[in-house]
Amino acid sequence: MTIQQTLSIIKPDATKRNLIGSIVSKLESSGLKVIAQKKIQLTELQAKQFYKVHKERPFYHDLVKFMVSGPVVVQVLEGENAVIKNRQVMGATNPDEAEEGTIRKEFAESLEANSVHGSDSIENAYQEISFFFSQIELVN
Ligand code: CMP
Repeated sequence: MTIQQTLSIIKPDATKRNLIGSIVSKLESSGLKVIAQKKIQLTELQAKQFYKVHKERPFYHDLVKFMVSGPVVVQVLEGENAVIKNRQVMGATNPDEAEEGTIRKEFAESLEANSVHGSDSIENAYQEISFFFSQIELVN
């Protein structure tokens, strides 16, 4: 049994449509536990830094613009194999390819406005969690 932590972001398209509770409900139903959570308005600089791995990609500029278009909820989720489990609950990046019952299938509007972000590896989870949270904010 591997207990992991992962970073989740509820994106502006979802916060604007009042979907925070519905999304948290799906995460919790899967067995993931929210051990930290805050609603914030990202600055352009923060969004650019967070997504710097994509800075050469053609969608980078629009992605940053979208991520500052409204508040986001950043969360730390904990549970058994939390990184993979969260990505399963989220569904594929493109909602057209997401499986039935996943967050993106149910709520995402488009490839860009895809409602949630989740860390894609244990190493990235560690980095992404420390981008937004200090250890003292993680309470399980
Ligand atoms: P996310 O998991 O937050 O990681 C990067 C984001 O870029 C991704 O979700 C999508 O919302 C967004 N994005 C926009 N266009 C693309 C694309 N063509 N391929 C992958 N991600 C994209």
